[in-house]
Amino acid sequence: MTQSLYEYVQTHGLKYYIETYGCQMNEHDSEKLAGILQAVGYQRAEEMQEADLILFNTCCVRDHAEKKVFGNIGALKPLSLRKKSLIVAVCGCMMQQQDVAEKLMKTFPFVKIVFGTNNMNELPSMLYAALMQKERVLNVRQSSISSSVIEDVPMQRKERPLATVNIMQGCNNFCTYCIVPYVRGREWSRAPEDILAEIRGLAQEGYQEVMLLGQNVNSYGKGTGDVDFAGLLERVATQTGIARIRFMTSHPKDISERLLEQMAKHDNICKQLHLPVQSGSSRILQRMNRGYSREEYLALAHRARQMIPGIALTTDIIVGFPGESQEDYEQTLSLVREVGYDAAFTFVYSPRNGTPAASFPEQIPEEIKQQRIVRLVELQGELTYQSNLAYVGKKERVLIEGVSRRDEQSICGRTDSGKMVNMPGPKEKIGGFVWAEILEAKRTTLLGRMLDD
Ligand code: 5AD
Ligand code: SF4
Repeated sequence: MTQSLYEYVQTHGLKYYIETYGCQMNEHDSEKLAGILQAVGYQRAEEMQEADLILFNTCCVRDHAEKKVFGNIGALKPLSLRKKSLIVAVCGCMMQQQDVAEKLMKTFPFVKIVFGTNNMNELPSMLYAALMQKERVLNVRQSSISSSVIEDVPMQRKERPLATVNIMQGCNNFCTYCIVPYVRGREWSRAPEDILAEIRGLAQEGYQEVMLLGQNVNSYGKGTGDVDFAGLLERVATQTGIARIRFMTSHPKDISERLLEQMAKHDNICKQLHLPVQSGSSRILQRMNRGYSREEYLALAHRARQMIPGIALTTDIIVGFPGESQEDYEQTLSLVREVGYDAAFTFVYSPRNGTPAASFPEQIPEEIKQQRIVRLVELQGELTYQSNLAYVGKKERVLIEGVSRRDEQSICGRTDSGKMVNMPGPKEKIGGFVWAEILEAKRTTLLGRMLDD
């Protein structure tokens, strides 16, 4: 009689370790992968070294992430020689690129399983082949799967109080620098009732905050149903009992007035909007295929501030896009100053194979890109600090997430607007809300003291 995968994994006491690269969508996928592994009998290993299965969930949005993955997998060679039974598996966006997946298999013979973002749910059969039949598996499917399959995948979530909820997959925008539409496929949205049921369940389990995730949440429901993102947000706010709702990422071209109205209307929708601008120059925005101009973006940012007083605005910015002149770059700096972001993720343009911008002429030399990012980071650092200073003396409701990184006696959590606050306090407060008075602004965080309830 053949042994089942579950029996095999259990009798050998196998453990897994997942290393995740890239965005929150990947973090979310890793929680699904952990759920699948636990369902087939694996236990979580605290350290990579003690694991029998090491799974890399990869990202390919920038070259840096790809290089790091190759480096870190290569570093496992000695361990794989010592531990013959070790299975190294690699999945995620980077593997959706056929040539990269094949190169990885060729370079590292100890990589036993390679799969993409569209067949995570087939992991048990791939493990069966690798463990019981000693096969190497390369299984990357290009097309997206139907929603029913995704709904069946169990999840091993991070600890309370925060949870991520995927509301849609893929992207149809084809920004000229971006590889996501090629590796994540076409956009499709989960049914509203599935999302609402999931969030109700989370609220009942004691989760306080959900982050609704999608590459472009504002096009939720396009073409598939009568509930758009503003409609979904309203239902989540009023029909699930969850204490706090965040969402990302919003594409500026698809933000509706109704969405801002919902944000203004419901106290449990956090007053924070991540609104990637990418560039402050209309000429570059057009070449990026972003679908809005500098002026339209600025008008939207002002409208958001007007309708939702105290809203925190955050963004993504790329410097050194092909053809970006000094003048274009200066326009990015001036837009950043004008909006006065609370925080920004800043990136050096990285050419991605197969995207239009990779073959645009006028690629910007590396030294210039570096100079540009340094000045931008400095500017944003100052603006973040200024925005933090504005909190000193205020009373804020903070959802406590854990113990402070630098001080065992302190706890930390975020304000409604997403600012991280550290304050002395007991661990028992983790997972719940406290009121805090903000005493001091640091460069990236706030320092506070807990107030009596
Ligand atoms: N080079 C640099 N940054 C990129 N991003 C996406 N593609 C690239 C690229 N090729 C950035 C964008 C996006 C964020 C997730 O990553 O700013 O919003
Ligand atoms: Fe990439 Fe643009 Fe889609 Fe965002 S909206 S995932 S940047 S193509």
